[in-house]
Amino acid sequence: MNHAYVSVEGIARRYPGATIFEDLWFGVNRGEFVCLVGHSGCGKTTVLNILAGLEKPSDGEVIVDGQAIEGPSLDRAVIFQGHALMPWMTAEQNVAFALSCRHKDMPRAQLRDAAREALERVGLTAAADKKPSQLSGGMKQRVGIARAFAIAPKMLLMDEPFSALDALTRGALQDEVARLVSEADQTAFMITHDVDEAILLADRILLMTNGPDARLAEVVVNTLPRPRMRATLHKLPGYHALREHILDFLITRSRLMAQGLPADWNPRHAPEVRPGA
Ligand SMILES: Nc1ncnc2c1ncn2[C@@H]1O[C@H](COP(=O)(O)OP(=O)(O)OP(=O)(O)O)[C@@H](O)[C@H]1O
Ligand SMILES: [Mg+2]
Repeated sequence: MNHAYVSVEGIARRYPGATIFEDLWFGVNRGEFVCLVGHSGCGKTTVLNILAGLEKPSDGEVIVDGQAIEGPSLDRAVIFQGHALMPWMTAEQNVAFALSCRHKDMPRAQLRDAAREALERVGLTAAADKKPSQLSGGMKQRVGIARAFAIAPKMLLMDEPFSALDALTRGALQDEVARLVSEADQTAFMITHDVDEAILLADRILLMTNGPDARLAEVVVNTLPRPRMRATLHKLPGYHALREHILDFLITRSRLMAQGLPADWNPRHAPEVRPGA
């Protein structure tokens, strides 16, 4: 934990009369892809916002690269569920704008070239001059992905980035993100409700109990070999055991564990499991 790039140390979020979650401890290593899974309302978005520096925890702190998070940073790019593009800008301008925030002295021509290249990497060359209103949901989300990768953040934060898309588009974008992340050896933290998405992308999957007063129940280590492809994921040895384990948590154990954690459960070291390994 001490050597993790991101170290989440005992964070809690409380509102008057309600504790959303507390005593959350985990780390994210450099180059690691961590997914957070749990039922609606357990506080996943809140955790991500705290990692982004958009919200402050009621307790505890988050250390990134040895320093406590004080606020948002271009070192940590967020891909939101909605695309969050600027509607008056073209796809290229949206990416170039983010780049200009990162590289204050970059000449315009270079910003444009870098933006074009980022769009090309997600297959959007033809849409560079279109505004968000002229793009499909999947294309908008692609622009958001291009923008996040363009600024080469130290950490990529994603809050259910594909959940609003149809299954076909979602699958294509999952494969694309998997490719971009492995090319860049990108450190990433992602919230998802899609178990197969977590299995495809994650090195470790954090399971949260149901709220209120949610906790980190378990850390599932994904030992399936890489590269992983959506089309052949189900053929990998260990896939079914892993999937069953996470589904069983979501269907039964997330609720049972919310009623009472095991006596030997330690918030600083949630049990690590390797189903199917
Ligand atoms: N101002 C507030 N006062 C009280 N409770 C709040 C407030 N804002 C948020 N909450 C509660 O905090 C909890 C966590 O919200 P959060 O959006 O982080 O959940 P989530 O796990 O991301 O859910 P989902 O899967 O639906 O996106 C929710 O139960 C919500 O009702
Ligand atoms: Mg959420």
